[in-house]
Amino acid sequence: MKKQSFVTTKNGQEVERYTIQSPGGLLASILTYGATLQSLVLPSGRDVVLGHDTMADYERQDKYLGAVVGRVANRIGGGRFTLNGREYVLCQNNGPNHLHGGLAGFDKKVWQAKTEGEMLVLSCQSADGEEGYPGKMEVTVRYWFSEDDTLWMDYTAKSDADTLVNLTNHTYFNLEGHSSGSILGHTLWLDSDAFTENDEFSCPTGRILPVEGTAMDFRRPKPLGQDIDRKEEQIHRGNGYDHNFVLKNPSLTAPFAKAQAGGVTLTVYTTQPGVQLYTGNFLDGAVPGKGGACYEKRCGFCLETQGFPDAIHHANFPSPVLKAGETYHQRTGYCLTEE
Ligand code: GAL
Repeated sequence: MKKQSFVTTKNGQEVERYTIQSPGGLLASILTYGATLQSLVLPSGRDVVLGHDTMADYERQDKYLGAVVGRVANRIGGGRFTLNGREYVLCQNNGPNHLHGGLAGFDKKVWQAKTEGEMLVLSCQSADGEEGYPGKMEVTVRYWFSEDDTLWMDYTAKSDADTLVNLTNHTYFNLEGHSSGSILGHTLWLDSDAFTENDEFSCPTGRILPVEGTAMDFRRPKPLGQDIDRKEEQIHRGNGYDHNFVLKNPSLTAPFAKAQAGGVTLTVYTTQPGVQLYTGNFLDGAVPGKGGACYEKRCGFCLETQGFPDAIHHANFPSPVLKAGETYHQRTGYCLTEE
């Protein structure tokens, strides 16, 4: 494992960059800032994830490139929730809703790193009341490669009071290479029969709808661009795909997604009940990407494995409540192969 000093944040905190190598020669570089996956380079030299070269660019961007997102990924309707009879008020940083843990979520923390063999272990703390959430929380994310070149991300969290948690990683993939432009030609297969319906602010209404007969149907592989402009309210509301799909069979051995482009296949596994398919609809090229790349709208896509968005407000969704002293655990693996 290689460790380099990356640079300091504007607050003067030291950020490090760790590079881990898979048995087959893939290289994953991870920053302690946001526990961010900054690059994922295949043996051919192709880097398939979007990222930035400088710390200043990471601090300027608001697209969560490669970052671990929490305390609660995705939206909390109205930016407030009630737990154990008490109301907690969060910031509304996405229309009327709370998004991705707030203004200073886990993506903006400098995590502490240690190594365990070829595994990178990143930890952070979140104070009681931070961003409005109850309970002091300890979070650990472990990154490692398995023998078959799958990059695993394993998340655990514990709180000293009842709270909410939903952790994910916000990597944008472009399998043709991070600076190759549109991902609309990528084909995607998703093992999902249903998705959570969104309101006009991309927050769940609580209804779970079948994908059958809609643009959301990826049960047979199809290009991401095939139905993205269909005149369907859900696609229109998301400005493209920005929806939580209900996974039929969350598993660490049977994949729930396969994406393909340019001779590269991405296969994804998770323990989580849902995945946000997000087609980079709000990428706008505002902050330079690696090597000066310009990441415009739909130049990357995310498969954010997660609990359902806004689950605290919908009794029919799996609960996002983490009880005091209990351990939250999620694991996701991204396997990349080249032809
Ligand atoms: C996604 C979210 C999008 C957008 C994006 C960040 O996870 O669903 O609506 O906010 O993050 O730009």
